[in-house]
Amino acid sequence: MDSRVKKIREAAAFLKENMGGHLPEVGIVLGSGLGKLGEAIEAEAVIPYTKIPHFAKSTAIGHKGNFIFGRLSGKYVCAMQGRFHYYEGYPMEQVTLPIRVMAALGVKALFVSNAAGGLNQGFSIGDLMIIKDHINMLPNPLIGKNFAEFGDRFPDMTAAYDLDLIARAEKIAAEAGIPVRKGVYLGNTGPSYETPAEVRFYIAIGADAVGMSTVPEVLVARHCGIPVFGMSVITNVSNTDNASKVLNDGDDVVRAADAAADRMCIIFRKLIETI
Ligand code: HPA
Repeated sequence: MDSRVKKIREAAAFLKENMGGHLPEVGIVLGSGLGKLGEAIEAEAVIPYTKIPHFAKSTAIGHKGNFIFGRLSGKYVCAMQGRFHYYEGYPMEQVTLPIRVMAALGVKALFVSNAAGGLNQGFSIGDLMIIKDHINMLPNPLIGKNFAEFGDRFPDMTAAYDLDLIARAEKIAAEAGIPVRKGVYLGNTGPSYETPAEVRFYIAIGADAVGMSTVPEVLVARHCGIPVFGMSVITNVSNTDNASKVLNDGDDVVRAADAAADRMCIIFRKLIETI
């Protein structure tokens, strides 16, 4: 057996033994400062990544590093409280391993969240953005021998973010009186924030928000055929000019994400009910 597939199978087998007896229907990835949703789960098991075979350790600020299994909105879910980033120095295979493990556990949908910079100059700190599409500026995690057990060599990305889930989320947000934006997320490597010239470039090519995660996970989930829903919390508005006095700061990002987390949780919870 391909050694990469063996690692996935071993991690999935360990989780099956330790997750409390119910297979998850929905996978969730909670980004910087958004771990709160994890606390809403009626947990049957909380498993630190350090205990899971072949998982890396999460070193990013605002990331806890637990896999939570339990019930949310009447569904069995597994949630990653914290994710792995390429900027931490992990190879893409490690960054995306948990997504393939979730696929091996049989999840029917993947929900991803992140903290992002608002490239769209109409956005404000604390805005929620439904991700309608992405631009990938990170190495593609599907490079290398195809995992034929999981999907095709050339996966289609026309509707990387599930149109039906987006429509349902917009309806839920409107009914709950929660304003939401909809836009294109650009994933770049980080860990440095963007220069104003990069910000202007990213705006020009059609991006609304920028971050350092999510896209690799989405590419791998779509390769596995899993429908994806994604949401960004806008934690800062990107500077388009070098004279700006507002500097980006990791702690500010975590604080802003924390303040918006409740609104995002409402949308995620109600949307999960519909799965
Ligand atoms: N750039 C990249 N990643 C981010 C940002 C940003 O401005 N804010 C939060 N994550």
